[in-house]
Amino acid sequence: MAVEFSEKAEAEFKELVSRYPNTLAAMLPALHLAQREFGWISVEVMDYIAERLEVPPTRVLNAATFYTMYNKSPVGKCHIQVCTTLTCALRGGYELIEHLEDRLGVKLGETREDGAYTLSEAECLASCGTAPMFQVSYSDGESEYFENLDDARVDEIIEALNAKLASLPNPREMH
Ligand code: FES
Repeated sequence: MAVEFSEKAEAEFKELVSRYPNTLAAMLPALHLAQREFGWISVEVMDYIAERLEVPPTRVLNAATFYTMYNKSPVGKCHIQVCTTLTCALRGGYELIEHLEDRLGVKLGETREDGAYTLSEAECLASCGTAPMFQVSYSDGESEYFENLDDARVDEIIEALNAKLASLPNPREMH
């Protein structure tokens, strides 16, 4: 199936392109929009964005592969990105990862077999005052910060995430 923005995403795309002096400058937000719309950035999606922005596909490939926030393969319905930069590391970021690995049954850098969770390490997410913390990106395009974490709070969050899973689209089936 050829990728194509939904009506809503198309309106958003046109609006964001209108804000920039040229289409090349709109590439990063356009890729963000595409990731929300299609779940992840495949070669097919990169080609689509290149065509829509009327830029060479290699420019899109360079940007998408340079920035780690663009997922080049399908992630889980909940993509948990744990900050392990200095403040979070000193305040237990790596211990949080170990706890999450145990509780979720997925290793760092991997997606769980059933497609529910991906667990990643992230660079500073600009919330150092509330370390340790992680961000969860959902496959419906939303995302959320969870801060001042300890094992008990993480357990509560996992329960809430488990309850949310059924309402989220599966990125593996989004295009
Ligand atoms: S060090 Fe973790 S948010 Fe900045």
